[in-house]
Amino acid sequence: MEVIIENDAAAVAELAAHIIGELVRRKPDATLGLATGSTPVETYKALIKLHRETQLSFKNISTFNLDEYIGIAEDNAQSYRSFMQNKLFESIDIDVSRTYFPRCESDQNPAVAGLAYEHIISEVGGIDLQILGIGSNGHIGFNEPTSSFASKTRVKTLTPSTIADNSRLFADDEFQPHLAMTMGIATILATGKILLLATGRHKAQAVRDAVEGALSAICPASSLQLHQNAVLIVDSQAASKLKHTQYYQWARKENQIIKDKFGYFPSLGN
Ligand code: GLP
Repeated sequence: MEVIIENDAAAVAELAAHIIGELVRRKPDATLGLATGSTPVETYKALIKLHRETQLSFKNISTFNLDEYIGIAEDNAQSYRSFMQNKLFESIDIDVSRTYFPRCESDQNPAVAGLAYEHIISEVGGIDLQILGIGSNGHIGFNEPTSSFASKTRVKTLTPSTIADNSRLFADDEFQPHLAMTMGIATILATGKILLLATGRHKAQAVRDAVEGALSAICPASSLQLHQNAVLIVDSQAASKLKHTQYYQWARKENQIIKDKFGYFPSLGN
């Protein structure tokens, strides 16, 4: 894993948007995996800025969101489609007919919905770059602790800690789902490149477990240790429990020297 420590959340967003922008310039019909949650919002703002100021075009890309609640209509303000519409899609030149979510209606068999989502991902040739946040319990997407590393898109029951973390986004009298469809860990590991973003001290333990902890289903984000092109971009607060900070900073400088010398090259594994 490549670990990049930035001073603050703004610098995390700036760098993430730069990496995504580079990919879209190089491959205008790229397929992006997108995440919801507060963390990537600043990255989406930075992408909108790139679109407005540098004419970066998203008109030929396809997107797959990581997860979607079950029991909430697509046009409900709490759906993840609404979130993406508000935070990104309506401000860029994306073709919304190529933006996908793992939707499953309450009367639909989630196993069928999961297979259908996996099928569309493989039809477009897979996801080039996946953006991830991390839950304070180490989840990625809605792959809660104990999720199988071999899992594909499926229904998950949310843990009480995730429901509590996300309750801040729901009004007291509003329905908060406890079920969601999520890409599986194997779905995420099959993507070409992963950018995991984490900011704030409340993510420090999850980041430590993911990067320097044992490979374990109890910390789903530790599965990224199995990916050959996973980059963690974290601010100094989220990095505050890491033990090997100096090494990560040194390796970042050395990687930059190699990139400056040879230009873009696909990762050979971190
Ligand atoms: C949700 C999402 C995750 C996200 C996590 C962290 O549960 N399903 O994809 O990474 O929350 O969210 P935040 O960035 O708001 O801390």
